Amino acid sequence: MPRPEVIIIMGASVDGRITTAPGRNVTEWIAEGLMESHDHIHHLADNLDCDGLMSGSESVLIWGSHPIRLPSPGYWPKKSKAYIVVDGRGRIQWAHTEGLIVVTRETVAPEYRAQLAEKHIDAIFAGHGRHVDLRLALAQLYRRGFRRLALTGGGRINAAFLQEGLVDQVSVVWNPLLVGGHNTPTIYDRPNITDIHDIIRLQLIRSERLDGQSVWAHYRVTTAPAAAPL
Ligand SMILES: NC(=O)c1ccc[n+]([C@@H]2O[C@H](COP(=O)([O-])OP(=O)(O)OC[C@H]3O[C@@H](n4cnc5c(N)ncnc54)[C@H](OP(=O)(O)O)[C@@H]3O)[C@@H](O)[C@H]2O)c1
Repeated sequence: MPRPEVIIIMGASVDGRITTAPGRNVTEWIAEGLMESHDHIHHLADNLDCDGLMSGSESVLIWGSHPIRLPSPGYWPKKSKAYIVVDGRGRIQWAHTEGLIVVTRETVAPEYRAQLAEKHIDAIFAGHGRHVDLRLALAQLYRRGFRRLALTGGGRINAAFLQEGLVDQVSVVWNPLLVGGHNTPTIYDRPNITDIHDIIRLQLIRSERLDGQSVWAHYRVTTAPAAAPL
């Protein structure tokens, strides 16, 4: 099945954390001056020619329930027209629907289907299992013309794509921060591995110091995980 390329694009601390603690909106890093802004991430989505941004449902729920206002909205991606959210369990009450494509399961609750219809939200239905069938969802996005998607977290949606061998490149803006935390979301949030062969290898393609003190590193995924999907 042809699918769009998938590039994980994330801002992270040097210890790989992508937010302060479970349930916390990472935008607070920008508000507190700990991270320059999301601008680098959005510029990357454009510079890497991504035609859509894709996120997990938990990130969107946290943004909605703990909104953080910034003085300036910053740079918003130009080429990335679609905002694609994987909401397999149908948990999100949608307020902003412009450019939105929701990816959910065939078996999602009828009430959620009704919300999508009522709000005229574009939707993709993929899979009958516990989660969205990501491979099927990507095939549908390919048929709609998407060729390169920026997967912008959180850690569990990244892990689900990585575990299925559906990620081609990983681009990280490393911020000069150490966060810690046993359960704090990371770039790649999966259960502990038991076999060294489950480690995914990356090849560094490019790296660059950005303005301020952050460093951008761009990698190609060179090995698929041996383990079964999560
Ligand atoms: N630093 C950054 O650049 C950055 C970017 C984004 C987010 N964040 C932070 O990340 C945190 C949230 O991350 P998170 O990891 O908790 O949540 P998340 O990745 O946003 O949400 C979990 C997602 O994974 C999906 N999923 C899990 N297992 C799956 C599988 N096997 N197959 C298909 N889909 C699967 C879930 O689907 P269901 O919908 O079906 O449950 C859900 O969409 C927030 O604190 C946010 O602020 C940071």
